[in-house]
Amino acid sequence: MQRRVLVVYAHPDHDRSRANLRLRAAIEGLPGVTLHDLYAAYPDFFIDARREQAMLLEYDVLVFQHPMHWYGAPAIVKEWQDTVLEAGWAWGEGGDRLHGKQFMQAISAGGPQESYRRGGKAHFTVVELLRPFEQMAHYCGMVCLPPFVTYAASLASNDELDAHAQDYRALVAQIAAGESPAAFDTFSSPE
Ligand SMILES: Cc1cc2nc3c(=O)[nH]c(=O)nc-3n(C[C@H](O)[C@H](O)[C@H](O)COP(=O)(O)O)c2cc1C
Repeated sequence: MQRRVLVVYAHPDHDRSRANLRLRAAIEGLPGVTLHDLYAAYPDFFIDARREQAMLLEYDVLVFQHPMHWYGAPAIVKEWQDTVLEAGWAWGEGGDRLHGKQFMQAISAGGPQESYRRGGKAHFTVVELLRPFEQMAHYCGMVCLPPFVTYAASLASNDELDAHAQDYRALVAQIAAGESPAAFDTFSSPE
């Protein structure tokens, strides 16, 4: 079964990106995949909730793609969540519009993988840090997929990032083809 995938992209400094630039370029043009650049669409941060909601209804899979900023997402993603995921629409009574859709996060971290552990510089794993997003998905009745993580995004060579971008392309193409990885739940999935 083909699935329509909406990639909500948020990078406040896209022109200077090395990782997300490549990841984004790798999925652009894939059949069934639409890229929606939040900072380009809303440079003034005034998000049009009705437009975003109408767009979401057209898709089966929602992907948040962004760099890790302060162990979370760039600010516009939070604004998007607060504005678009309204009571009675995304959650609460009658709020079933996202039920059954899939959610995935594609995140780049400046830090290397070994720093994302107990005793490491980041102290927590990326999966632990992304729990508010995982819970957002559960609360809105979405099926959470494992995150796609690019570690050491600032240190990696262009060749390494290019190879990783191809892995991302393969994964997103697989999801669009209806062959998503198994649903993810912190409490039942390995890190
Ligand atoms: C404001 C800000 C906050 C950041 N916070 C983190 C962080 O919490 N953890 C981390 O690993 N990297 C952090 N970084 C580094 C970025 O995640 C990294 O530069 C980015 O993922 C590289 O991707 P890009 O080439 O697409 O910009 C931060 C960068 C900025 C500008």
